[in-house]
Amino acid sequence: MCGIIGYVGKKQAGSILIDALKRLEYRGYDSAGLALLDRGKIFPLKRVGKVCELERAQRHFRHSGTIGIGHTRWATHGNVSEKNAHPHLSNGSHFAIVHNGIIENYLQIKTFLSEKNYTFYSDTDTEILANLIDYHHHKATHLPFAEIVRKSLLHVEGTYGIAVLGKPFPDEIVVARKSSPLLIGLGDGENIIASDAAAIARYTKRVVYLNDGEIASVRPDHFSVMTADESSVDTVCHELDWEIADVNCDGYPHFMLKEIFEQPTAIENAMRGRFTRDGSSTKFGGLSLTPEALRSIDRLFFCACGTAYHACLVGKYLIEKYARIPVDVEYASEFRYRNVPLQRNTLVFVVSQSGETIDTLAALYEAKRKGYPVMGITNVVGSSIARATDAGIYQHAGFEIGVASTKAFTSQLTIFSMLALLLARRRDMDQFDGQQYVFALKSLPKVVGEVLKLSERIRSIAERYCKRERFLFLGRQAMYPIALEGALKLKEIAYVHAEAFPTAEMKHGPIALVSEETVCIFIATQRELLDKTMSSLQEVRARGGKVVVVAGDGEVEWEVFGDEVIRVPEVHGGINPIISVIPLQFFAYYVGILRGCDVDRPRNLAKSVTVE
Ligand code: G6P
Repeated sequence: MCGIIGYVGKKQAGSILIDALKRLEYRGYDSAGLALLDRGKIFPLKRVGKVCELERAQRHFRHSGTIGIGHTRWATHGNVSEKNAHPHLSNGSHFAIVHNGIIENYLQIKTFLSEKNYTFYSDTDTEILANLIDYHHHKATHLPFAEIVRKSLLHVEGTYGIAVLGKPFPDEIVVARKSSPLLIGLGDGENIIASDAAAIARYTKRVVYLNDGEIASVRPDHFSVMTADESSVDTVCHELDWEIADVNCDGYPHFMLKEIFEQPTAIENAMRGRFTRDGSSTKFGGLSLTPEALRSIDRLFFCACGTAYHACLVGKYLIEKYARIPVDVEYASEFRYRNVPLQRNTLVFVVSQSGETIDTLAALYEAKRKGYPVMGITNVVGSSIARATDAGIYQHAGFEIGVASTKAFTSQLTIFSMLALLLARRRDMDQFDGQQYVFALKSLPKVVGEVLKLSERIRSIAERYCKRERFLFLGRQAMYPIALEGALKLKEIAYVHAEAFPTAEMKHGPIALVSEETVCIFIATQRELLDKTMSSLQEVRARGGKVVVVAGDGEVEWEVFGDEVIRVPEVHGGINPIISVIPLQFFAYYVGILRGCDVDRPRNLAKSVTVE
């Protein structure tokens, strides 16, 4: 989703801004722009489409400067066009602003400013903010830049991460945050601000994260932070402890494929150092829960969005099965506005690859407001969710660029599987079963490596079915969320209509969709209920539907009834969902490629959804 960058120092800002914007591309966007302060005047440059379009235009841009701001926009208010792309300038070009988030009362402010003779040239909520800042500047020209911005923001309802450039303040950028991430990267005689550490990690590893309600003034040699109620803030400088390698595909045609193949390593990293010495359980240093606290949990509550929500559903099946603790799972976007009754002794987890999804963050705050300690499972160290949770588990899956999550998903499944074991061993699971479970977990990287060898086989299946327009994904128990994830991947990547159901629900409606055009993908890798799955499969066949089965390598002769059978190793139930989803990731990837889709940057989607 939208990305912000800003530079103030001695170097040419234009090329730094473009380079950093490229590192934000993975988030998903539809236009890009920058503004430079050149010899006392602000000059914007914007382009619809990719950052490389902006880069091309910048080569012929007659303006330069050592201070500037940049943005990648994901349209919310107003269509995708140059006029709506950021930065937005105030009337008279005294101020330029880039903004992530949504100003909810923008119409009210627009009416107010229109009465003061301000004119608006875009359809965005952001432009009103540029003019509001200009208005406050003209009201009190003596005020410092950050104070002008602070006064303006007092009138604003909604969410924002902003960076503002001001003609009267030639060596200063002002940034502010409310529910939209921003950080200041500290350099030597230069500072760089961004909405995402990935954008600036190659310039500096020393960063200061802004908290909600904070405003900062950033100059080449100095920065200061205050709160909306004018208190000064003692900032903490963090070292980025993750290496962000130069973003490239390492010889793979797409990041998505690269990340699918990185799964053995991502899973290994999720497990590293997290087994107990007796080899029968797991431990998570970051959870900071005593054995007594773990034992006293009566219920678990998981909240997330998208693919992370599917991981939570798998977590529910595993924890209920092995640890016998009831688990509720909610979409974060629903939870935040629903007054969900939570029992005492409920442990709340929010799960988010990026750690920045706004609905998940809001759900976290809502649970905390109710007085529950909230744990996090996230991949991004220092992300908003990582910092706002009371404790948590890092995934260590490595940087995920493909918009459709793959390795981060299986890494979350690994963590949930380990959590199920940890809780089970605190309750009824005996040491022998615990050791078997650990043995299965430790075998995962190797088994996943085996499943990755199916790539070409699944490509050939994708070739046969890529032109079909209707897919049903069916699974029972823990394979139901895997079916949901398989369908989501196909929708995201290949823009094909795909739905998922618990297999036995077919006859309660979805079977009406089955015709010769329909492809039904059965996920039948678990040992339980296989004969029931076989009956459902026959019902599809009897109606002419095509059948693809993802099955274990056991004895059931799926080949007799399935049009295609994808065999994966038969494994322990605690790791089975991980093995089962990989063929579905490949399938979505190849169907997407064969249909000519941009699989790394699917239309309308964003990697990290920072607006509601
Ligand atoms: C977006 C992405 C999905 C992702 C979801 C949750 O919708 O396109 O791929 O699953 O956000 O993201 P999170 O970072 O919170 O896991």
